[in-house]
Amino acid sequence: MSAPNKSYDPVEVEALKPEEIERMREEALAAFAAAADLEALREAKAAHMGDRSPLALANREIGALPPQAKAEAGKRVGMARGAVNKAFAARQAELEAERDARVLVEEAVDVTLPHDRVAAGARHPLVTFCERVEDIFVAMGYEVAEGPEVEAEWFNFDALNFDPDHPARAMQDTFFVSGKDAKGESGVVLRTHTSPVQVRSMLDREPPVYVVCPGRVYRTDELDATHTPVFHQVELLAIDEGLTMADLKGTIEHMVTSLFGEGLRTRLRPAYFPFTEPSAELDMECYVCRGASVGNPGRPCRTCSSEGWIELGGCGMVNPRVLVAAGIDPEKYSGFAFGFGIERMLMFRHNVEDMRDMVEGDVRFTRPFGMEI
Ligand code: DAH
Repeated sequence: MSAPNKSYDPVEVEALKPEEIERMREEALAAFAAAADLEALREAKAAHMGDRSPLALANREIGALPPQAKAEAGKRVGMARGAVNKAFAARQAELEAERDARVLVEEAVDVTLPHDRVAAGARHPLVTFCERVEDIFVAMGYEVAEGPEVEAEWFNFDALNFDPDHPARAMQDTFFVSGKDAKGESGVVLRTHTSPVQVRSMLDREPPVYVVCPGRVYRTDELDATHTPVFHQVELLAIDEGLTMADLKGTIEHMVTSLFGEGLRTRLRPAYFPFTEPSAELDMECYVCRGASVGNPGRPCRTCSSEGWIELGGCGMVNPRVLVAAGIDPEKYSGFAFGFGIERMLMFRHNVEDMRDMVEGDVRFTRPFGMEI
């Protein structure tokens, strides 16, 4: 530190004169009082409390004073600075309180206003149920496969071993988009089932093939309580070496358990489908009465009409002719298939009595299934 300058006369130091210090103090206090908001106060603070403010500069002069003059000048400047700091803090608290009060008024929310009454939508139970079924099979290693709803007649019928004059092709069942062209190429239909995705899946992949195919299908039915011209099916296809009806039954039993709970029996009834051989209808034991309503008029069951069994869908071992049409060697591979309607399953699983409720898109129907958005 340099020695005090002996030739330096404190009386000559203008900035340290009591009236000067008092003036600086007064100016600072006046500036703080005049600051109308926190921004203006911030500027006043820089001007009157900053490193280059008059009081800070005056403070610096003290170091050059002779020792006997230092104490008094230091006290004077220190007191003035203390007063300025205090005045600043007081004004700051005042302006902050003013700001908080203003924000409370300006940003107030009127909680008594009516809230937004537009109801949120919900995913349709048909969609969520399809996804649930997909999940069951994906967990077993199946792939989800899809095909077009406007389908070649060849995929919808021919490749699935339907005779050219099979009644299902007749106009009352099938929506024809266009007939065979002049060269005899396949016509185009709205697919009547999801089974054509079986053929597409086999053509797209090398065996083994394990696919689950959900989708929309079309038939020329009138819309009534138990029919709709547009509905949903899920198709199952497994192609591998050595598959049998036992694999089919075990797979479906697993699905039934996942959807309806433990311990429900399933049964196969002989049936005919051109694309499976042998073919069967698959029933599950009624999950509501578990057969207790059969022959028991005192305890009727609405879910199974007191039959004890609920029909799920058609199934069977893939007809070798279908394997050949899809380029798969029937000597080496065998497979099973299963197809069922989602609307019907939703109806008996949730006691939906009228199929029209499912297609009308009214959120009051959808809501009780859970608001998945
Ligand atoms: N596609 C048939 C229908 O719509 C249902 C069906 C039956 C699917 C047997 C299959 C099956 O996969 O093996 O009526």
